[in-house]
Amino acid sequence: MTAALKGRHLLSMKDLSGDEIGAILDRATATKQHTDRVIAERPLAGKTLGMLFQKPSLRTRVSFETGMTRLGGHAIYLSPVDFKIGERETTEDIAIVLSRYVDVIMARVFGHDIVQELARHARCPVINGLSDFEHPCQILADLLTIRERKGKLAGLTLNYIGDGNNVAHSLMYGCARVGMNCVITCPKGFEPDPRVATESQAIARESGAQVRVVHDPAEGARGADALYTDVWASMGQESEAAARREKFKGFQLNRALLAHARPDCIVLHCLPAHYGEEIEYEAARTPNSAIFDQAENRMHAQNGLLLLLLGK
Ligand code: CP
Ligand code: NVA
Repeated sequence: MTAALKGRHLLSMKDLSGDEIGAILDRATATKQHTDRVIAERPLAGKTLGMLFQKPSLRTRVSFETGMTRLGGHAIYLSPVDFKIGERETTEDIAIVLSRYVDVIMARVFGHDIVQELARHARCPVINGLSDFEHPCQILADLLTIRERKGKLAGLTLNYIGDGNNVAHSLMYGCARVGMNCVITCPKGFEPDPRVATESQAIARESGAQVRVVHDPAEGARGADALYTDVWASMGQESEAAARREKFKGFQLNRALLAHARPDCIVLHCLPAHYGEEIEYEAARTPNSAIFDQAENRMHAQNGLLLLLLGK
């Protein structure tokens, strides 16, 4: 499995098989449990990660950068001031030039086509650090968190309530790959991309899981092992925030919704959170909330991923 991931890109959760996700999570757990040993061994000594950010970030930037430090490597942060895709330089040239210096690229971009084009032209692995279409690194951390809390993934049911966005898309693919049922609850008009629904349902049929889209919050939460939400207006949709607040009313992750789920249901949010909108503060602070484990696990999951993509 280690060899199978060496040199690969990670643009979509669809790119990974269930076994490959398991291998990344196993490696993540091992590096998390043996932090001191990993720091001493410096498995990525001499390796550099180039990080391209078209959008803001707290978790993604800091978890990748500190992750590379722990693994003995180095990370370079490039802000939108440093590279202007299509303006200062083409995506193709950025990919070619960067991969002459660095060993792996992580990019947070608007259009998903940009990470795809970077991957086409880079001579090193390219990791999607969030595009408008997917957020695979987040979902690796989420699966690690659920596995830590529940001891397994296959057979569980996750209910995501909110916008059918990048996080929802990666969850649908990721859950389907590992055999976890995934229910998306959203207002009408905010469904996930139909192609993601069709493809994740096909993948789920093979893994013995189900992917469904519903519009009734109580129905979606029924029997859930995990309740998950994300902001109603993603980065780049700021001008729609007020209109979306109206349309998403009633689609909040709160204690009333948790009452429909299993008593041991965990609460998940990729963060940043807008308390009082998509999530109630109290629900985010229950003992079953794992939102800060998710944030920490960004680093551990990505460390597992980086080691395997770099053949270590
Ligand atoms: N969850 C997440 O990707 O956070 P940032 O936007 O802060 O990186
Ligand atoms: N859907 C959100 C996720 C932030 C981590 C966004 O794209 O802004």
